[in-house]
Amino acid sequence: MKRKKILVTSALPYANGSIHLGHLVEYVQTDIWVRFQKMQGHECLYVCADDTHGTPIMLRAEKEGISPEILISRVWLEHFEDFSSFHVNFDHYGSTNSEETREFACAIYLELKSQGLIEARTIEQYYDPVKQMFLPDRFIKGECPKCGAKDQYGDNCEVCGAAYTPSDLRNPYSAVSGAKPELRESEHYFFRLSDERCRTFLREWTRSGTLQQEASNKMQEWLGSDLSDWDISRDAPYFGFEIPDAPGKYFYVWLDAPIGYMGSFMKLCKERGIDFEEYWKKGSETELYHFIGKDILYFHALFWPAMLEHAGFRTPTRLFAHGFLTVNGEKMSKSRGTFITARSYAEHVKNTEYLRYYYASKLNGTMEDIDLNLEDFVLKVNSDLIGKYINIASRCAGFIAKRFDGMLSSSISRENLNWLEKAFSETFDEEGRPVDRGTYIAACYSERNYAKAVREIMSVADVVNVYINDLKPWELAKEAGKDEKLHEACTVFLNAFRKLTIFLKPVLPELAEKVEHFLSVHPLRWEDLGNLLPPGHRINEYSHLMTRLDAKSIEAMVEANRESLKPVGHSPARHAESQIHHQPVLETISIDDFSKVDLRVARIVKAEHVEGAEKLLKLTLDIGSEKRTVFAGIKSAYSPESLEGRLTVMVANLAPRKMKFGMSEGMVLAAGGEAGLFILSPDQGAVPGMRVK
Ligand code: 2FM
Ligand code: ZN
Repeated sequence: MKRKKILVTSALPYANGSIHLGHLVEYVQTDIWVRFQKMQGHECLYVCADDTHGTPIMLRAEKEGISPEILISRVWLEHFEDFSSFHVNFDHYGSTNSEETREFACAIYLELKSQGLIEARTIEQYYDPVKQMFLPDRFIKGECPKCGAKDQYGDNCEVCGAAYTPSDLRNPYSAVSGAKPELRESEHYFFRLSDERCRTFLREWTRSGTLQQEASNKMQEWLGSDLSDWDISRDAPYFGFEIPDAPGKYFYVWLDAPIGYMGSFMKLCKERGIDFEEYWKKGSETELYHFIGKDILYFHALFWPAMLEHAGFRTPTRLFAHGFLTVNGEKMSKSRGTFITARSYAEHVKNTEYLRYYYASKLNGTMEDIDLNLEDFVLKVNSDLIGKYINIASRCAGFIAKRFDGMLSSSISRENLNWLEKAFSETFDEEGRPVDRGTYIAACYSERNYAKAVREIMSVADVVNVYINDLKPWELAKEAGKDEKLHEACTVFLNAFRKLTIFLKPVLPELAEKVEHFLSVHPLRWEDLGNLLPPGHRINEYSHLMTRLDAKSIEAMVEANRESLKPVGHSPARHAESQIHHQPVLETISIDDFSKVDLRVARIVKAEHVEGAEKLLKLTLDIGSEKRTVFAGIKSAYSPESLEGRLTVMVANLAPRKMKFGMSEGMVLAAGGEAGLFILSPDQGAVPGMRVK
């Protein structure tokens, strides 16, 4: 067989959220495929990266009082650890915020420009005059133009389902500052997808077998209606790459996201001395596969190939789109506790291969959604993995250790060899023709129909278990003079167990490694299906390979993820919870006492270090009607840069206090203790000067 060179990617997860069970469908699906290709002896490389740019990430960093760079490096580590805990084995996991990605983004842009495929155009867009930035659609809210529901997003109404554009909203407001947005003009850059060169190319490319049928049909629909040009620039402030020769203009995050596949691969090339060109030049003989969710087909099946084609690179061999995950038949939900993060699963259930197996048993290579039914999950894992597969080893291993000094028998009878041959080699395809089982299962993996592979593997496990029940090693062990029979039976079953392990290894890599140690064999490859354990081979002592999945751990996980029980905020704050020494509540006051305190929403317009002050920062606060100077003892917890622009709450009628460094005209509210210091912020939508009561 020819050794293929294959490059595989999964979609890059955004760097502003945690990996959850929905994400994992894709990474587990891809990882199984890559492991299978590697077991076949192909050179298969798997790269991915965090998708780090854009407004939401910029604003989230600001809200947390840190720079975007610090935010994305923290999230990168969290993502990387989560993937590792699910055995998702990237050859390289990078970040789009890399020099490599920047260079490719600029080079591709400049090439498209020189081809006449970039056009500058002035557009009108909503602008937040307080925050001084243009607002992406999802940061504009207002009343639905159709049903009048309040607080709806700029693109569609969650109440009546109407779709519209932000300028259709009634009484729009900025979800960032609460201010009324103004329509302002700005020059944007467009990738001219409407150009005949792009249209002709895409019509051909999307029909050439690169897409699943369903996806191809969808693309024809989009291509049939007028394909509009794609706005690829955003105005400062924006966290991303500045466009060459266009100060203050940045590449839209979706431009550099797929280019991140190249950037991440380039890093791998540098690490391992791989030839980048060989994989990405036009006409390359290597293969390139992108695993993605069906929701981002548009970007990958239209924009991305058009960009590559016209910038002089190869285009993908195939796009593999999958559906969404539902849990217990419904959309993942925070209130039901089914919006489960990778980390929470790992903490509660511990064994991540259970989930890999369950997903595999559901994935069939189409764009259909898959359901994680939690009850069925427990049943399936216990009945298939423990009851059918692990059981084979656990029922035979002890005899080999105790009765035969850890050694397999030195020969296997013709009858048993025939049985092994029949159990593992003969099956029938859909048309009832006899086919080799290993070849059949390999084809299922290759077509990403893991559900079919798993069904077939479990039917072999059933055949093995029937034979174990026929020969009954546990009874042979009790009868005098049956030693040889017992020895051979256990040897046959451990050989069967080894072959089943080869079949399951792409799905259960950690378990397979344990089996390799137990059987004392080198890392198993697909071609090892063709041989048996050597006669008289010595194996290691059996220790538990996998325990039953306890339904209680699933219940505990769901409980822990129910939103109402969850503390708000990110992990440091959650950690702080356990450390608080509860102080007694002070004596009761009347509502009149309380209303004497004038609390106001304030914007920190300026924050400065104070020469000679160890703990203080000098803040300039805007409370709508006026500006105040306040010296706040928060230097240990916040850098001045991280505070500027954000909202907080201040006591506006506190008697001014003369301090060594100047007059302090109020106080900002902060919670604090041994665990740290946390200044208060109002929810989105509040504006400076609002009274807090
Ligand atoms: O939809 C998403 O989560 C994007 N971050 C996927 C990017 S995939 C690729 F283009 F980078
Ligand atoms: Zn509506």
